[in-house]
Amino acid sequence: MNENIEFLQAFLKNPTKVGSITPSSPELAMKMLEGIEPSAENIVIELGVGTGAITKFLQDIVPDERSYIGIELDPDLVELLRRNFPEMNIVCGNAMEMESIHKRSGLGKAGYIVCCLPFVSLPAEVRNGVLDEVEKFMQLGCEFRTLQYAHGYYLPSAIKFRELMRNRYGKEKKSSLVVKNVPPGYTLTWATK
Ligand SMILES: C[S@@+](CC[C@H](N)C(=O)[O-])C[C@H]1O[C@@H](n2cnc3c(N)ncnc32)[C@H](O)[C@@H]1O
Repeated sequence: MNENIEFLQAFLKNPTKVGSITPSSPELAMKMLEGIEPSAENIVIELGVGTGAITKFLQDIVPDERSYIGIELDPDLVELLRRNFPEMNIVCGNAMEMESIHKRSGLGKAGYIVCCLPFVSLPAEVRNGVLDEVEKFMQLGCEFRTLQYAHGYYLPSAIKFRELMRNRYGKEKKSSLVVKNVPPGYTLTWATK
């Protein structure tokens, strides 16, 4: 089935958890991965893998299966991802359990978290739960990258999210606007390494 249709089906099943009606464009995916150099000692953890719009570019820069974990909540999407990306280590799980998923994997330190979770539409307890997990990795030296859509950039929940992150890690590095995406958006990066 076409990736856009799979994605739309996932959105209709769980609108607030998916948060967008189309997968990220190649332009946004490339922006999300700019400067990211995963290795077995600096693995990348992808949160909210969806239909794999970013994973398909990640698989070109991930050197082997010991350098990547993808975490996706929706079991139907996980089945699709495992079929389409047999070389990538995709876990069906909750980003709120990122630390225990990482420990169970036995893989090396996480150097990068590439996060596509829709923080703007997720309930505050999920957002805070995920950010508490992120904090455990940031304490060890890590780079966290996420995206925010331009039309929602000044919504109270988007502002709240940036405030929470700034209080912990200082001002974000914001990309230029990626216009070739529906909807257009920015990437935001915080780093502690
Ligand atoms: C906006 S989509 C992003 C998909 C893809 N990365 C992209 O850029 O097109 C968000 C994804 O996060 C997943 N998700 C939502 N809450 C989650 C959670 N707590 N843990 C793991 N995945 C979650 C959804 O099922 C959905 O596939």
